[in-house]
Amino acid sequence: ATTDQPSSLARTGFSSRLGFVLAAAGSAVGLGNIWSFPTQVAENGGAAFVLVYLGLSLLLAYPALVAELMIGRYSQSNPITALEQLPDNHSWRPVTRITGIIAVLVICLIFSFYSVVGGWLAGFAMAPVFEAAGFSDLSKWMMAFSTERNLLLAILFVGATLAVVNGGVKNGIERWSARLMPLLVLLLIGMIFTVMPQEGATEGLKHYLVPDFSQINTDLMLNAMGQAFFSMSLGVCAMMIYGSYLRRDTNLPGVALQVCLLDTGIAFLAGLLIIPALYVALSNGVSIYENGQLVNSDTLVFEVLPDLFTRMGTEGIVMSLSFFALMTIAALTSSISMLEVPVSCLAERSGFSRAKAGLTVCAGVLLVTLLLIIYFDPLFNATVTFTTRYAQPINSLLFCLYAGWLISRHRKLQEISRGWSKAESSLFWKIWPWYIRIVCPVMIGVIIFQSI
Ligand code: PHE
Repeated sequence: ATTDQPSSLARTGFSSRLGFVLAAAGSAVGLGNIWSFPTQVAENGGAAFVLVYLGLSLLLAYPALVAELMIGRYSQSNPITALEQLPDNHSWRPVTRITGIIAVLVICLIFSFYSVVGGWLAGFAMAPVFEAAGFSDLSKWMMAFSTERNLLLAILFVGATLAVVNGGVKNGIERWSARLMPLLVLLLIGMIFTVMPQEGATEGLKHYLVPDFSQINTDLMLNAMGQAFFSMSLGVCAMMIYGSYLRRDTNLPGVALQVCLLDTGIAFLAGLLIIPALYVALSNGVSIYENGQLVNSDTLVFEVLPDLFTRMGTEGIVMSLSFFALMTIAALTSSISMLEVPVSCLAERSGFSRAKAGLTVCAGVLLVTLLLIIYFDPLFNATVTFTTRYAQPINSLLFCLYAGWLISRHRKLQEISRGWSKAESSLFWKIWPWYIRIVCPVMIGVIIFQSI
């Protein structure tokens, strides 16, 4: 234990460095990688978007990730308390506390739309099982858009998240992520190999890998930035709370880099599968674009891929089952981190038991989910846009400023040099403190400002 630790709650955290990396990567890898990244690529001019996204992930999201993890680990407490106790100067405390409260509300909003899509994935995973068991109607119901189905499956998804979070950090979160993440990667690679030989795939590959620079504009930049922050779970305290469970002797910039590379790598793999699959579907006459726009944002994962699976026969059924099952799990390891944030705040700040805090938060989230499902058309997309395009980057900008200006250089160095003896002479230390003080905030600000 160190003397400059602001709070000394006895907390049980991750048991190993690998456990942390897998859990943080589990938070990062989810719908953002496999549903929203390929969709954005298809909507925003292919390879040009991929390039800007990769650049922003490394140059902007990675330093911001280190900043957010650092605030968490430095505080050793829930995000609202962490942010509140950050400034030495007490007059700043109300400001940082409000930022924390807003971030927690935003992550609850994200959780409510996320559970709708998570529910769809679970439905698509269960459908082949019901089909095989002879419940053909039920299987079709699971895959067709309806208010009842959306609601039922979202409740299931939120319930499953609650069950894992109630298991606690080590037994719940860490154990699940560690086993299932590697499977997802293997399956993605396997699927890429089955898609590549098909007609149309090469053209899709070209669209994905050969950039047309004339496509880059301010809107594309804003979308790519929002996507990078969403995908790395930034700006909403998910990484902050995981940082607070991270052991103090772990090399922070190192684990953050692993998380960043895993997340970006899996998004890249997903695109490598889905964009060629989209072109295969196009060459089979499936209508995906209308007036140059994707028919639906859920087209790729919920129409193009099922179409691909159906045409593969029996092998396709197995693939479909495993793909959607693993996707549901990837979504779950993300939603766990979403629920952990408000639960830890409620439990540590108002003395609720974790179980009671979990129930309270889930009840509130489900209420919002209900609204999103009933007024799906205007509300759903508006919520996604508000939270991911604006709220996440703006909050993250604030976290960078706080970590940059409110934690002294000495303490920052102390945080990064635990578990990394050469920290002080590293290139990282020469650049990063100024980078999050000035470069990240300015870059985020300019991208948002230009697009308005
Ligand atoms: N990063 C997750 C994904 O890509 C989503 C997420 C956002 C998780 C915000 C936690 C916080 O699906």
